[in-house]
Amino acid sequence: MKNKEKNFVNFDSKSQLKEKILKLKKDNNAVLLAHYYQISEIQDIADYVGDSLGLAQNAVKTKSDIIVFSGVHFMAETAKILNPEKLVIVPDLDAGCSLAESCPEDDFKKFKEKYPDHIVISYINCTAAIKTMSDVICTSGNAIQIVESFPKEQKIIFAPDKNLGGYINRKTGRNMILWNGTCEVHNILNTEEIINLKIKNKEAKLIAHPECKATVLELADFVGSTSAMLKFTKFDDSKKYIVATETGILHQMRKESPEKEFIIVPSDETCSCNDCFEMKKNTLKKLYLCMKYKKPEILISNDIIEKAKKPIIRMLDISRKLKLI
Ligand code: 13P
Ligand code: SF4
Repeated sequence: MKNKEKNFVNFDSKSQLKEKILKLKKDNNAVLLAHYYQISEIQDIADYVGDSLGLAQNAVKTKSDIIVFSGVHFMAETAKILNPEKLVIVPDLDAGCSLAESCPEDDFKKFKEKYPDHIVISYINCTAAIKTMSDVICTSGNAIQIVESFPKEQKIIFAPDKNLGGYINRKTGRNMILWNGTCEVHNILNTEEIINLKIKNKEAKLIAHPECKATVLELADFVGSTSAMLKFTKFDDSKKYIVATETGILHQMRKESPEKEFIIVPSDETCSCNDCFEMKKNTLKKLYLCMKYKKPEILISNDIIEKAKKPIIRMLDISRKLKLI
């Protein structure tokens, strides 16, 4: 039976796999949540595709029994923290995030102890353990507003992304202490190449994710989360955009604005593309198998769930109050 199953999967076409996934979703009352950086075939069959903020919000709202999360580990972990009673499964348990991994629990604990009078605002791209040490979470979609919800004189540690933290400091005039972490996909986007593209495409606007280096953000006409960039390209009157982020978002940009041109910024010589290798570990076949066998499952201890939930709920409450969601 096992071999039969294996052969069956191997010889299935993409469209057959998609049909089977949709049937499993219905039969098991499951919801499929996918990040914009997923392959286009997964985005096309998801119940909700969005950025980290939208995904967290949808994870709270869902009435389904099973959450199938196609993204990276910290995102599925967030869904589990918000729904401890539900089964949360992922296509590939090894799909991690270089940024979350740049902030190990023990090192961060020592770092935090150096600043006892500071609160901790953590970017959602961190492990559940870091969330337990945080006062409030933010995403790239609400980071500035979350920081500004605290008085100017409030001392703040911002972790783990120093590029996003530096961007918020410049935008808000704050002086947050930054953890020295970066996303390996955004941090290597090539400034020289961006300038060349701008010279060759004078009419194009540069849009960038705030995980990019300050030198890239300084050149940008618009900086925002994946959802914010998508919205910007939909309603802005320009016809051409140079896009400084992960490639997966182009699928939705082209779907929403088929008449517009999108040019992705290449990375430097250390990487041939700006695909997030971790996000792209999720394939249709792995998605099908995880739904068929209902594993691998995200498991977190009750103690961590209790502590990590508070700063996430606080973020969602502030976002609701400010009408960001
Ligand atoms: P968003 O908040 O835009 O979804 O960013 C998540 C992410 O991982 C970007 O690299
Ligand atoms: Fe993490 Fe960067 Fe991949 Fe986003 S793009 S999931 S921050 S490694």
